[in-house]
Amino acid sequence: MDVCVIGAGYVGLTTSAVLADLGHDVTCVDKNKDRIEILNRGICPIYEPGLEELIQKNRSRLTFSDGVGEAIRQNSVIYICVGTPPMPDGSTNLSYILSVIDDLATYIQSPKTIVTKSTVPLGTNEMIGELLTQKGVDRKQFNLVSNPEFLREGTAVYDMFNPDKTVVGLEDGDSESLQVMKALYDGIESPFVVTTLNDAELIKFSANAFLATKISFINEIARICDRSNADITTVASTIGLDPRIGRHFLQAGLGYGGSCFPKDLSSLIHSATNKGIKPAILEAAQYVNDTQLDYYIEKIKENLEDLSSKKVAVLGIAFKPDTDDIRSSRSVLLIEKLEELGLDVVAFDPKAKLPPETLQRTTQVDSINGATKDADCIVIATDWPVFKSLDWKEVKKEMKGTLIVDGRNCIDPSEVRKHGLLYVGVGRI
Ligand code: UDX
Ligand code: UDX
Repeated sequence: MDVCVIGAGYVGLTTSAVLADLGHDVTCVDKNKDRIEILNRGICPIYEPGLEELIQKNRSRLTFSDGVGEAIRQNSVIYICVGTPPMPDGSTNLSYILSVIDDLATYIQSPKTIVTKSTVPLGTNEMIGELLTQKGVDRKQFNLVSNPEFLREGTAVYDMFNPDKTVVGLEDGDSESLQVMKALYDGIESPFVVTTLNDAELIKFSANAFLATKISFINEIARICDRSNADITTVASTIGLDPRIGRHFLQAGLGYGGSCFPKDLSSLIHSATNKGIKPAILEAAQYVNDTQLDYYIEKIKENLEDLSSKKVAVLGIAFKPDTDDIRSSRSVLLIEKLEELGLDVVAFDPKAKLPPETLQRTTQVDSINGATKDADCIVIATDWPVFKSLDWKEVKKEMKGTLIVDGRNCIDPSEVRKHGLLYVGVGRI
């Protein structure tokens, strides 16, 4: 099929590459001309394992352009994959979605299937239909489909080829679009969940809100472990043996970051509140996550004593391993708090870069040793595999101090302590 994907971000690029690999002719458009120029030079503007190779493999069926009008006119399926970032009050910035609606209203001249893959607030798909009609598009010229993404950064390509479900939200009476979606995803084994537009939107938010709540739950239990001489890794792995709980997403640490959980939880809280519902559980999950950084700062202050002219090495800048994405990264937020304490910070990450407009007292180096040398304290803020296999005997020789703060509970305390270093995690014995 002929497909236009609007938005060449983490979601749009993965969607484009996978659809091309499935045999479709895909035009991926983006307003950011630099991004398109880089893509046409064969370079992937983001780090996502396997994505650059998948794009190159399917170049004959993949076109990158900033010509959104031409792409809308020439393709019968239009994916919306633009950003839906959070506003300060927790609502969603829909300006990119509204910009796409303007483009669609301007350029639709033949029947289209419009597939919203971006995570959009409750009611947005219905709003898209209403706005297109208001802008003069014949209602018979388009069908709306809500097909939310469940891609994890770092495994997005795998997740798109191996989804545990394909959610397809349709309008009442739409009997064509399901066939279109099955044709688009022909070659991917996955149960189809066919439902309404509103269900599909809430399925997406509920999934992310539940996962975020699970993380805040285990972080709260970890705080109780700290005061109970109990070990959170044992508690978490044991309760995870119950299939009703499951062992995933029970890793205590600095909390959840990324471009999804923080904004999706805020958006759902905002939507619920607007509907007159008090989202107590969701707000509690957000509260635990928001205060988890301060919980770690207190641990650092307790163990560093005199903070003046101390150097802290922060290992990990990305919001999780196997990505270069720093959106809402807990590491970046922690570095900001460390700076507020007057500490000098040296950061390292295998892939991610500190935000350009940073941080007065923070430098980024290109080696682990460059960060840990003469450090009074080392914080592991992102659980990159390379940090889990450090030679702590060698690290200690380079350090000035002895404090190791494990922000992701990802290393073995005994491996650290046997070299005379002080291990601090959350809920760890
Ligand atoms: C984002 C959200 O993170 C995710 O939760 C949601 O499900 C989909 O949107 P992501 O791919 O991370 O996914 O967005 P982003 O990396 O911000 O890329 C969006 C792209 O759309 C940007 O490159 C932007 O230039 C482009 N864009 C935006 C357009 O091409 N046209 C527009 O009108 C607006
Ligand atoms: C998430 C969802 O997993 C995915 O289904 C959805 O489509 C997009 O949002 P992503 O944000 O890429 O994916 O990363 P994820 O692996 O979910 O981690 C999110 C954050 O939670 C990271 O900051 C990670 O460090 C943190 N996390 C994850 C924990 O703190 N503990 C855990 O046990 C798992």
